[in-house]
Amino acid sequence: MDYDQYRWPMKNDGQSELGVEPLQFRGPIIYASADIHSPHYLPLFKNSLKKHPDPPCVFALAGDIVDKGRIEMARPVFRAIRENYPETSIVAVFGNEEYMDREDEFIREYQDIIWLRESVYSTTCSGYKISIIGSRGSLKRPTRWQRKNIPGIEEIYKRRLAAIRELLSEAREKSDIVILVTHYAVTRATIIGEHPAIHDQLYDPRMEKIIRETRPDIVIHGHAHKGRPQARINNTLVYNVAFPLLRDIAVINMSPKRTLLDFF
Ligand SMILES: [Fe+2]
Repeated sequence: MDYDQYRWPMKNDGQSELGVEPLQFRGPIIYASADIHSPHYLPLFKNSLKKHPDPPCVFALAGDIVDKGRIEMARPVFRAIRENYPETSIVAVFGNEEYMDREDEFIREYQDIIWLRESVYSTTCSGYKISIIGSRGSLKRPTRWQRKNIPGIEEIYKRRLAAIRELLSEAREKSDIVILVTHYAVTRATIIGEHPAIHDQLYDPRMEKIIRETRPDIVIHGHAHKGRPQARINNTLVYNVAFPLLRDIAVINMSPKRTLLDFF
């Protein structure tokens, strides 16, 4: 028996070898999106919500919710999610378009959003303990703009990585499902399709190493509009949920791996 078919919602190409939907355990569901760059993709984003009427346990936004730091443009994004899923918790991380010096303003303005900055949100979905660790993430090589305008950016990235590693290790001990949400990509596998000259400014291989070592169940990121939607790092499923790539929100089945042991 191919247990992977039970473990994962779908194979990389979304099909089983038999060409039929694999039998699968349906765990709690998380919806995710990123790079809405409101107002740019706002109408399409709103339409995509209509295609998914069932409320998820959590809605995760992996940064670049707005374009060019426009704090007020996040409002219609959050409102649209609330209108469709009034009971759902909304978790968000900042992207490069939510400028670092405006983070506190976003937090003040949208106090009902769970903003994660190297921090964790714990909840229970369908009886499973879920830990969501969130961060902007880090880059192998800061962009030219960052090197010029953010003093100590290399150091900031190093500190972020250390904090994320610690949070992931702690969460692994006490959660059924561990999810990491970052804006920047975490592996080269989901940025293939982007121009190779900018790969180092889209992801950080140090993050991939941390994921290999701390084994979260799911990683959700954005930022790579032309990348690939899904990849695997060992048993961790990585989702690039950039809206311009998917043209839809991502529906992620959070089947906990240990459920398999409960079954057999
Ligand atoms: Fe971005």
